[in-house]
Amino acid sequence: MSTHRRVVITEFGPPQVMTLQSEPLPAPGTGEVCLRQTAIGFNFIDVYQRRGAYPLDRPTGLGFEAAGVVEAVGPEVTDFNPGDRVAYMNAGVGAYADRRNVPAGKLVRLPDEVSDEAAASLLFKGMTAQYLLRKTHAVQAGDLLLVHSAAGGVGQILTRWATALGAKVIGTTGSPQKRDAALTAGCAAVVDLNHPDWPNAFLEATGGAKARVVYDAVGKDTLLKSLDCAAPFGLVVSYGAASGPSPAIDPELLNKKGCLFLTRPSVFPHNADPATFRANAADLFDAIGRGHVAVDIGARFPLDRVVEAHEAAEARAVTGAIVLVP
Ligand SMILES: NC(=O)c1ccc[n+]([C@@H]2O[C@H](COP(=O)([O-])OP(=O)(O)OC[C@H]3O[C@@H](n4cnc5c(N)ncnc54)[C@H](OP(=O)(O)O)[C@@H]3O)[C@@H](O)[C@H]2O)c1
Repeated sequence: MSTHRRVVITEFGPPQVMTLQSEPLPAPGTGEVCLRQTAIGFNFIDVYQRRGAYPLDRPTGLGFEAAGVVEAVGPEVTDFNPGDRVAYMNAGVGAYADRRNVPAGKLVRLPDEVSDEAAASLLFKGMTAQYLLRKTHAVQAGDLLLVHSAAGGVGQILTRWATALGAKVIGTTGSPQKRDAALTAGCAAVVDLNHPDWPNAFLEATGGAKARVVYDAVGKDTLLKSLDCAAPFGLVVSYGAASGPSPAIDPELLNKKGCLFLTRPSVFPHNADPATFRANAADLFDAIGRGHVAVDIGARFPLDRVVEAHEAAEARAVTGAIVLVP
């Protein structure tokens, strides 16, 4: 039995509930590999879980994604060997750790051109963008899209990839400081969410045209107004709630706003089995290779400063992705 360091919470609450603890780590079990993790991705869902908005049984670890090197393989693992570079984004919570046992079926091998840090900052967010623009709506050249938080982790990836597919993206940001990052990611125009009538500012930016798809992960503060930005028969995708839980929506409202479609998807069912996960990851790695998806690491924190990482994320202070370094 060796040891590892992992972030643990015993109660829900502010960032300070997270503590780094040294604990025993058993040898990898059947179908598992032991990873030495080199980079860990922060995702906003980690905040929802730490706060208890998405409750977990405690004590619990936190974090969904990391990259690293296979240290040892358990019985019946045939597709990985010690030394392989791999990453995962859905092996159960507990990625905030320096070493970890992970089911082999949850791993994807990293191509040489994708660094560990790039994978840890991109996999969860990039796989989210992948299903949002391939499955939720198959983005086509000429589509007009509204992407909220276009300077954020998922937002930048979605914007850059959709733009590469020929869509026109109007982005929103919560502060003018993030405007340049949204424009660099490919937005044709950026709307400041502090504008008292930002839906109208969106329409001014498009010459009155409404969006084929609105991608909204802000939730409480934006979702109702997002309905006003979708074209008749358009799609509103509520895929997160960074500002708080989204309001309940009466189906009749969708009728009044133009026979709209509303969906609330998640990255996990879209990547439930190993073959689908690895095919979607190959699509993402191909997009990275073509330059359609770029790495934008906004901040790095050592794992023992995880509290500061969460504080920065909740203060909306970081543009791009946050990476934790064990
Ligand atoms: N359903 C899925 O499959 C799925 C998968 C991954 C992520 N998500 C969701 O996608 C969103 C983006 O995730 P991410 O990890 O890339 O995070 P992120 O975009 O880097 O951070 C969240 C962003 O939300 C915006 N925001 C608006 N109101 C906020 C508030 N009150 N507090 C904090 N942030 C606020 C901020 O952008 P501005 O300051 O520019 O407004 C902030 O940058 C999150 O809502 C997440 O839950 C969903």
